[in-house]
Order: sequence, then structure tokens, then C-alpha cells
Amino acid sequence: MPPEPLPAFNAYDDTEHMRRQVAAGQHRDVVGGLWDRLGNLQRDFLISRGLLPGHFLVDIGAGSFRAGVKLVPYLDPGHYYAIDSQLVLLQAGYEQEIVPQGLAVRFPQANFAANAVFDVSSFGRVFDYALAQSVFTHMPLWRLEDCLTALAPSMRLGGMFFFTVFLADVEAAARPVKQMPGGVVTLPDRDPYHVTRPALQDVAARSAAWRMVEARGWSHPRNQQMVCFERVAAGD
Ligand SMILES: C[S@@+](CC[C@H](N)C(=O)[O-])C[C@H]1O[C@@H](n2cnc3c(N)ncnc32)[C@H](O)[C@@H]1O
Repeated sequence: MPPEPLPAFNAYDDTEHMRRQVAAGQHRDVVGGLWDRLGNLQRDFLISRGLLPGHFLVDIGAGSFRAGVKLVPYLDPGHYYAIDSQLVLLQAGYEQEIVPQGLAVRFPQANFAANAVFDVSSFGRVFDYALAQSVFTHMPLWRLEDCLTALAPSMRLGGMFFFTVFLADVEAAARPVKQMPGGVVTLPDRDPYHVTRPALQDVAARSAAWRMVEARGWSHPRNQQMVCFERVAAGD
């Protein structure tokens, strides 16, 4: 039996919409704009958390390489990898950002792939770091669990997976929450989603392969919070 198609959770699941955005020259804005600021923020944060040029990193939901254009020059050639559900965003980022900046030699096309199931196994590589910035803010928490399961075999023990979420207090989580700074109104059951810290701790507790650790030093202009899961044991 073929797998069930995933439901649409957000505008990124609408391939025609993404094609139109790219055709209109919006490949930067469609991933959230703030191009240099958010790219630098991701690179500088990872460096502050120990990312070295010799590490291997996979950018999950990399979009048009807002982080990639900053990380590729920092990492050793060939050490940056990326997946996204939308090939059109990856291609636009490659052709309009990576190639013009002369970065293609450090980031071969074989280092990125499109799929919506967080499959990084096709790269045949074990990663030290994984990053998912503003990805799980657009889908329900169970998709994070799918990602953790898919990613675990490709992460080295001690490897770090950093991803952002919108947080809500437990008492407020059933209602819309206005996130400050930024003013984004997040919701319990649709995009943009918020989650609670106990719900994240439950996800970690259910997984033998990951533990949740503090992720200090991240300051996002729209109040997304950084979460870190460390790969701790052999999982399947
Ligand atoms: C707000 S953008 C952020 C892009 C990038 N992380 C950045 O900071 O520029 C969210 C990205 O997640 C991607 N995405 C959504 N669902 C996905 C999935 N199931 N697997 C991989 N990527 C996904 C979207 O196509 C989009 O590029």
C-alpha cells in the first residue's frame, strides 16, 4: 500500500502557491523575510553552541537557504546539507543565492534534496548538528516526533538538533496567544502553532534516542524559542 498523503498544515504545503511566489521573485519573503538578520542569527547561534567548520550539519526545512548562505562559507566545503518539502524553494535559493555568491563549489547540488518526511538518510552521512528554524511553528507537534524518528539514525551520539517553536503557558495554551515581540498570534491547533514546554518534555520522554537540553542564547525578533534535543542512544 502506498503511504497516505500528508494533510496540508500551512501555505508551504501548497506547491502551486510556492511556485507562484518564486516566479514573482518572492523566494526571500516567502520564508519570512528578515533575510540577513535571520540568516546571521542562525549561524551565530550555532557557532555559540559549538559548531565548528569541520562539523556536518543538516538544515531541515531550509527553504531558499536563508541560513545556508551564511553557513556554507563557515563550514568546510561539502559539510552543509539541506532538505525541504518544496523543491522549488531549494532550487530558487540555489540559483539565486548560492550560485551568484560563488558558493556552489562549497555546496554541491547533491547536498540538498526535497521530501516532506524528514528523510536525510539518502545523504549517507552522520550529522553533528541539525537545524530546523521556523519549521515546527507551522505544523502540529506530532510532526516533530516524526522528524525525531527519521533523523535519529543519521545523527551521531551527542549530536544536537536545534529547532524553534512558539511557546505558550499551559494555562493559556488552549487559546490564541499573542507572541511578543513581533505580535504573531499563535494557535493550539493550526498555523502558526504554539506548544507548551511540558508537551516538548513529553516528546523527549517518549523517545529513547533523544533528550531535551537547555538552548540558551537565542533571541528571535518574532519570539520563536529555540529548543535543543541531544542524540543520546542508539535508536532505530
Ligand atoms: C518559514 S520557512 C523557514 C525556512 C528556513 N528554515 C529559514 O529559516 O529560512 C519554513 C520552511 O519549512 C519547509 N517545510 C514545511 N513543511 C516541511 C516538511 N514536512 N519537511 C521539510 N520542510 C518543510 C517549508 O517549505 C519552508 O521552506
